[in-house]
Amino acid sequence: MIRLEKVTKSYGVTVAVSELSLEVNQGEVCMLIGPSGCGKTTTLRMVNRLTEPTSGRIFVDGQDTAHVRPEQLRRSMGYAIQGVGLFPHMTVSKNIAVVPHLLSWEKERIAQRIEELLSLVGLNPAEYAGKYPGQLSGGEAQRIGVARALAADPPILLMDEPFGAVDPMTRERLQAQFLRIQRSLKKTVIMVTHDLDEAIRLADRIAIMEAGRLVQHDTPEAVLSRPRNKFVHDFVGTDRALKRLSRISVSGFVRQSPSISISASVEEAAAACVRRRWVWVVDENQRLRGWIDRDSLHEVASVRESIVATDPEVIAVAETATLREALSRMLGQGLRSVPVVDDRGRLLGEVTVTDVENATAAREA
Ligand SMILES: Nc1ncnc2c1ncn2[C@@H]1O[C@H](COP(=O)(O)OP(=O)(O)OP(=O)(O)O)[C@@H](O)[C@H]1O
Ligand SMILES: [Mg+2]
Repeated sequence: MIRLEKVTKSYGVTVAVSELSLEVNQGEVCMLIGPSGCGKTTTLRMVNRLTEPTSGRIFVDGQDTAHVRPEQLRRSMGYAIQGVGLFPHMTVSKNIAVVPHLLSWEKERIAQRIEELLSLVGLNPAEYAGKYPGQLSGGEAQRIGVARALAADPPILLMDEPFGAVDPMTRERLQAQFLRIQRSLKKTVIMVTHDLDEAIRLADRIAIMEAGRLVQHDTPEAVLSRPRNKFVHDFVGTDRALKRLSRISVSGFVRQSPSISISASVEEAAAACVRRRWVWVVDENQRLRGWIDRDSLHEVASVRESIVATDPEVIAVAETATLREALSRMLGQGLRSVPVVDDRGRLLGEVTVTDVENATAAREA
């Protein structure tokens, strides 16, 4: 689908990209990663001809892009640029609609698409459609950038650190959303990231660059277990077993867990805590409220009094989270399991530290 053949880009004496050959198959997610200044953005910009290579050739669908008009080429490629690049004088709606507008879509269809995309990136259309970029946080602006790249439903997506400026929780959700969308839409994606965990989670294959060169292009598993050279080895770091957990979704490990209603009596709670020391506490709607510990049940009159109330955002994980996040919540709370909740905060079950250990051991073997 996308093939780079010995592509070089020099700026005077600076060689930004050097003899880079890379192939990205149709429907594949290629995560481009490497230290700052190694040529990631330059590579992306050469694919859609925002930057012209000094030498080498780039093919899209078998066609040499040097012979395709840039405007035509870019119609098949959504591009989310590093640092967002929204037009400051246009509303969020107008920003998203740029390409559909160029393609002369009907008004109705554009309006519908804007709404669809805002919901997709988790922003309320009624609230955000009319805002200007100056009224958005960095993370919100970035999500609008992603929506804009997706607007005309292009088969190819070029994304330059699209989730770089959002907090870890939001990033987690955006990554999960991206994976969900990608499973059904099967775009051909080149995405730049600085975050190795993100690369491992989202990639079909990872392309690691160093000083303008491609040093390894492989599946996440292969990059972690067989780093090609010392640079990649150092780059992926020492906790490779942990990083592998970023590839594994919590959903396959959710097991039933003891829970008790917040309105239960102390006797019922004590009975629930016989087999193990703590149980989760839920409200009348099954929403997680916290946990109780066997030792805290003495001399109290109700579950309410001894509950360790917790913010589900802090302690629980979503079904779409990875085992890596589950583990970090457990470590953060000092518990041997982490509750799993649905998108309304209702308790689905839990994942235990033993599950995580087994998953790590299975991968190591
Ligand atoms: N227009 C330009 N003129 C001169 N040098 C440039 C130009 N654009 C990029 N470079 C240089 O080319 C190299 C690669 O830049 P590039 O933006 O591709 O890096 P990057 O991997 O995207 O880095 P980052 O992770 O910081 O975004 C850098 O040394 C940069 O200074
Ligand atoms: Mg860059």
